[in-house]
Amino acid sequence: MAPLILKPTSPAHGGAAVAREDGKVWLVSYALPGEVVEAEPRGRQGGVAVAATTRVIEPSPRRASPPCPYFGVCGGCQLQHADYAYQLELKKQVVEEAWARAGLRLPPDTPVLGMDEPWRYRIRGEFEAVAGAEGWRFGFHRMRSHSVLPIDSCLIHDLRIERALPMFAQVANEMHLDSLQNMLVTVEPGGSGLLWRLRFRGREPRWPRDEFAHRVAELLPELTLLDDTMSLEFWGLTFRARSDTFVQTNYRQMLVLYRTALDMLAAKSDERVLDLYAGIGTISVAVARDGAGVTAIEENPHAVQLGRLNARINSARIEYLPGKVETVLRGIRLGQHQAVILDPPRAGCEPAALAELIRLGADRIVYVSCEPSTHARDLVGLVRGGYRVRRAAIVDMFPQTYHIESVALLERS
Ligand SMILES: C[S@@+](CC[C@H](N)C(=O)[O-])C[C@H]1O[C@@H](n2cnc3c(N)ncnc32)[C@H](O)[C@@H]1O
Repeated sequence: MAPLILKPTSPAHGGAAVAREDGKVWLVSYALPGEVVEAEPRGRQGGVAVAATTRVIEPSPRRASPPCPYFGVCGGCQLQHADYAYQLELKKQVVEEAWARAGLRLPPDTPVLGMDEPWRYRIRGEFEAVAGAEGWRFGFHRMRSHSVLPIDSCLIHDLRIERALPMFAQVANEMHLDSLQNMLVTVEPGGSGLLWRLRFRGREPRWPRDEFAHRVAELLPELTLLDDTMSLEFWGLTFRARSDTFVQTNYRQMLVLYRTALDMLAAKSDERVLDLYAGIGTISVAVARDGAGVTAIEENPHAVQLGRLNARINSARIEYLPGKVETVLRGIRLGQHQAVILDPPRAGCEPAALAELIRLGADRIVYVSCEPSTHARDLVGLVRGGYRVRRAAIVDMFPQTYHIESVALLERS
């Protein structure tokens, strides 16, 4: 059979490039717009034919040589083959396309805020356990697969995480641990703490947890092993976080994201602000520090508990309301809050949450999102409810990967 030759023309969300050949649409991974590539069909995804680049015939001038030895096999990164400035351009095009599809126009002056050093930025990583001939190792799922690729290095994680992985694996082997599933590790950006959590397949067996931690700690003398909470500090504020509470994985860009969102929010000291999907209250506390009173809504009880603690630690005026945003908002009276900031998970807002936001009619809404398609969908809902998009920004929280974080400011029109 003749090889498949494709000429992708535009980026797709997910990191592939879109090519059209004889009326058929292809999503081509590891190819860039403007290139000519030889590709191999790899089935279908969401109704679209998928292909992987096997040879680049005419490379893009923006093509980069991926520094990671696992790139192309590992499911973690999708864009290392594009130079970093181009990654940012591609992400903006993806957001423009998502907004256009929803019937919105991304403001042309929308900045894309990238990193000076777009590597080693993750302070949290989840690694799958895999048993091989030499015993346990940790790694990532392979691209579009459930099988695990063991790794020795990962250039987007904090080096301390990379160094800790083989130590955990070594001790798991020494102690003959069974049925390991995965491990979540988070390092303190400004300290030496390493928060860890092991998960087992099925029910957690009885295992010598303390002995395990003690032995790993011996192998990692430069780190302090933590299994309950860790500390997170920025702008002179202090927070406690846990493995089962959300943290922004890119600590350096978190500061850029929060600065961008808070500038858009421009909360005044006599205002009350709603922080929805508040997590452990990092945004709430930063808003309250500038004087505004904050009502935070969050469904994860552990995050609520830490959120209340974080408010106390930082002497911040925050009322935490536990529960789902779509339900708790029903109990909020009209006119109590002048501004809203929200940062939902990828799925975006439930329709009921949007309806409640529209009912409350705050002057300003700042919507932070890690998924452009649901962001655009929800923004359209708010626009139909009487808001106008005033500003937007893209903050690159996930260099080398396809993930995109965007922020929009809406005002009541
Ligand atoms: C993307 S995180 C944002 C956390 C926080 N704003 C931050 O910057 O650290 C989303 C948070 O929303 C919470 N969450 C998810 N669905 C929710 C819902 N329907 N109602 C309330 N909280 C929800 C999650 O537990 C998580 O803490």
